[in-house]
Amino acid sequence: MIKVDINGERLLDRMRVFAEIGATPAGGVNRQALSDGDRAARRLLCDLALARGFGVFQDRMANLFVRREGRNPSRPPVLIGSHLDSQPTGGQFDGALGTLSAFEVLESIDDLAIETDGPIEVVAWTNEEGSRFAPGVMGSMAFTGTADPAAWQSLTGADGASFADELAATLAALPEATMRPFGTPVAAYLELHIEQGPSLEKENIPIGVVTGVQGTRWLLVTLSGQAGHAGTTSLAYRRDPMVAAAAALHQLQEAIMPADAQARLTVGRMMTYPGSINAIPDSVVFSIDIRHPDPDRLDGIEAEVRRVCEEQAASQQCSCAVVRTFDMPSATFSPVVVETIETAARSLSLASKRMVSGAFHDALFLARVAPSAMIFVPCREGLSHNEAEYVAPEHILSGARVMLETTIALARRPA
Ligand code: HGY
Ligand code: MN
Ligand code: MN
Repeated sequence: MIKVDINGERLLDRMRVFAEIGATPAGGVNRQALSDGDRAARRLLCDLALARGFGVFQDRMANLFVRREGRNPSRPPVLIGSHLDSQPTGGQFDGALGTLSAFEVLESIDDLAIETDGPIEVVAWTNEEGSRFAPGVMGSMAFTGTADPAAWQSLTGADGASFADELAATLAALPEATMRPFGTPVAAYLELHIEQGPSLEKENIPIGVVTGVQGTRWLLVTLSGQAGHAGTTSLAYRRDPMVAAAAALHQLQEAIMPADAQARLTVGRMMTYPGSINAIPDSVVFSIDIRHPDPDRLDGIEAEVRRVCEEQAASQQCSCAVVRTFDMPSATFSPVVVETIETAARSLSLASKRMVSGAFHDALFLARVAPSAMIFVPCREGLSHNEAEYVAPEHILSGARVMLETTIALARRPA
């Protein structure tokens, strides 16, 4: 019986090489979606795939697929992967770990000349993060028919870049990749990712078996008052949207998360206009990211955000507009894939626990078109979306080994 294993040194070396692409001085990566850094990472993955004789494909959203044929090319592939794009001050592991582990699994299966009935494909989804171009998970939403990319063509990024131009440049950068339509059939989808939370590390459990993802919503709040002179405008004459914003956010931070341990409310981006040191702002615009596993609670939190922002705006004679810019309902993963992951972990004598993901992932949308689930590994102090993000080599290798076993088991399932 051939001992099936990954090539651990090769994977750890790959992680180091990809971490150099978009590396930041503080040890993280800035490889934002459709940027030169993103294109460089995709280029390297494509070159590695071509060198192995794997097929390389991309679709109109530049989702990148690497294919190893099975006995029966007409069978839908088992699809494994994650994303290569990062936050502006992201870590080396968010997304890259799952994508490179998936490629290592494909190479190991190839090294061992394991014949699978159906093909196996590795995927790098486009713009999972949504930080440069909102919303996130664009690639997997387009692939699964959840959103029409036509709606994004006129988008301008947080850095002023044109989405359409950057997407065109990214597609053009891989002429060797054969174009394919959205929505090609998938037998099953598997994604390895860092937990981005502290529980696995705290409980000293090496494998998280992810049974679902909580719901996420992004709101954009605009409070508008009256611009004025910082020195000559007394309190009675001020209609200051910054005062309304500060009061609203303080009230929301006091009310939402302390009252409900599962609720998440985050203000990550705030702009004032005109943004002059000595002018009362005309308007203040800020993002609010809210999350909850219970859809009714998510509705309740959004209603409270709207109510509090409107009340605090009114108290400063300001106007308030709240727009929902992203709505990602919670998802439950396939019990079959969940159990296959648990069986794989057990076969490797790795402790595991079932859990729901606090972060959203491409798997959330793949679950709409194919049996899907995720594998988590611990990251130090649960830190992520931070340049200090870190995963111990032993956890990288354990995660990839569980992915290898699970992938082979899924590939052997009868059609
Ligand atoms: O924001 C998220 O949940 C994902 O990590 N991009
Ligand atoms: Mn991620
Ligand atoms: Mn992320």
